[in-house]
Amino acid sequence: MGRSRFDRTPLLRYTVRMLNREYEYYRETFRRERLPLAFVDLDLLDANAKSLSDRAGGLPMRLATKSLRCVWIVRYLLNNFPCFRGVMAFSPGEAAFLIDQGIDDVLLGYPTMEVTEISLCLQALKAGRSICFMVDHIDHVQLLETMAAEAGVVVPVCLDIDLSTSFPGLHFGVFRSPITNFRDAEPLLMAMQSLPHVHLEGVMGYEAQLAGVADASPGSPVQNILLRLLKWIAKRESFPRRQGLVRALENLGHQLRFVNGGGTGSIEITIQDSSVTELTVGSGLYSPGLFDHYANFRHLPAAGFALPVVRVARPGIYACAGGGYIASGPTASDKQPTPYLPPGIKLMKLLGAGEVQTSITSDLTLKIGEPVFFRHAKAGELCERFNSLHLVRGGKIEAIVPTYRGQGQCFF
Ligand SMILES: Cc1ncc(COP(=O)(O)O)c(C=O)c1O
Repeated sequence: MGRSRFDRTPLLRYTVRMLNREYEYYRETFRRERLPLAFVDLDLLDANAKSLSDRAGGLPMRLATKSLRCVWIVRYLLNNFPCFRGVMAFSPGEAAFLIDQGIDDVLLGYPTMEVTEISLCLQALKAGRSICFMVDHIDHVQLLETMAAEAGVVVPVCLDIDLSTSFPGLHFGVFRSPITNFRDAEPLLMAMQSLPHVHLEGVMGYEAQLAGVADASPGSPVQNILLRLLKWIAKRESFPRRQGLVRALENLGHQLRFVNGGGTGSIEITIQDSSVTELTVGSGLYSPGLFDHYANFRHLPAAGFALPVVRVARPGIYACAGGGYIASGPTASDKQPTPYLPPGIKLMKLLGAGEVQTSITSDLTLKIGEPVFFRHAKAGELCERFNSLHLVRGGKIEAIVPTYRGQGQCFF
């Protein structure tokens, strides 16, 4: 490789040297592998697990499986890091699949009306496994009651409280549960009193506007300050609603097994709410592109993918095979893969990451057949594009394990 035009200041020289080392490390590790491939660096995954644990300050963390989508990784984290307890699944089919794979203590993070898949979960419940369903509407609860009565089980449910904050002209957060406080929850709670096959086991309040909004984006100092201010106000407005709901439920005699909150982006803030007994985290483990710019933390890039350079289109312009792995959410350039290694590779603005070919520019001279590395904007979505993950530790491929997709599983 030639010299980079970054080689100018001592700090940039140092950064480039470090990244070059990383590039050579991964290039050597994957030298004999078929490309494209996706990988998880277990040394960095371990470091991320440890720093999440430090950030959580002793509060147990449920693994958001949507942000991992690989049974091997979920098992590895649960078996090796006591800070992780249980999982948050995103569909009942996935919950049943995970139970089948020997993973227990499953909280379904989102409501469902899928009869066939609920039925699989009820069979698992009947066999003594732990699955809790998310509800925020009488229709969710009524379906569970009917099916649980037929199956002869009592179904644990978790009430989802929406913690978004509305400012004049701005809804700061998501639109999910219609329940925003205890008063909203009362009719559902009253109705549940006459449903003997559902049992309120937990409360979840996910503060998406604190967890999922980066507040240290480069080149946006004013926006960052504004976002941190909005987050501070949103915390003061929303946390008392979650606390009020929990207190009112306890006064009514409900013995909650857990109160769940947070995500990777909000750990430091969520643990300030004394009503929260457990967190949910996922993205901080792979630490994808969208999690690079938060004021409170920085995790390590533990997951990525390698594309082979297949063409030298012009001097400094290359085409790679594959790469168009765009993340969900409002379509914008931040949903594209993040160019990672070697340092100085860039996507081309007018072309982006392509369906079968991705054009890049590089300050360094690249050879046909060499890999270049990218990171997905989101965590688990990477696994929907690959059948397997190459697990790297100490410069060696420790194992190649299937993703959900590699196990023939696609939940949605
Ligand atoms: C209900 C819920 N809890 C927690 C999370 C946090 O997950 P992560 O740590 O991957 O951001 C999410 C993410 O979307 C979520 O929907």
